[in-house]
Amino acid sequence: MSTLEHLTVVRHPLVQHKLTLMRDRDTPTAVFRQLLREISQLLAYEITDNLAMTTRRIDTPVCPMDAPVLDGRKLALVSILRAGNGLLDGILELVPSARVGFVGLYRDEKTLEPVQYYCKLPSELDERLVIAVDPMLATGNSSVAAIDLLKQSGAKDIRFLCLLAAPEGVARMKEAHPDVPIVTAALDERLDDRGYIVPGLGDAGDRMFGTK
Ligand code: URA
Repeated sequence: MSTLEHLTVVRHPLVQHKLTLMRDRDTPTAVFRQLLREISQLLAYEITDNLAMTTRRIDTPVCPMDAPVLDGRKLALVSILRAGNGLLDGILELVPSARVGFVGLYRDEKTLEPVQYYCKLPSELDERLVIAVDPMLATGNSSVAAIDLLKQSGAKDIRFLCLLAAPEGVARMKEAHPDVPIVTAALDERLDDRGYIVPGLGDAGDRMFGTK
């Protein structure tokens, strides 16, 4: 993958197998959390596929070489609270020097509209690749609001990583933020009348944190 399409579904067998285990209602919290961590790394591998590179002069034990290294400022990961936090640790293992931000949005259960209650972002967002993470792209309302906020804070190069997407959410993102590529493990069928993804996996936050 050299350029990211607006929507990239990662169909790798490991991702799909792990996702099936996560969808299963009988999968316990601890296993769900571990699987989310593993999938987050596989998705992060895809979404960082075409990062800018430069070279650095090093000496191997055999000879000098100009070896490839990442170019530019450290990337910024932005977790959309609270479920986004389930994706953070795994990605940070792959990109340990990433800067981390948080956007707190909850979904009003009646209107399904996002309400912002927290925002703390890294500096110089305009010079970084910003990867916003949230496991569930459902109506797209929270994701669009979070990306609005990132853009208002200066971010120009933004990507969105999620575990599951609904067609409604993808369409909403494409309409509001056509410049933001989305990477996901699956594009599901639809939303139900409560705004849950079908077939989905239920409430991602509740399943990863064991709340109800
Ligand atoms: N948020 C979730 O956690 N699950 C859904 O199905 C939709 C939104």
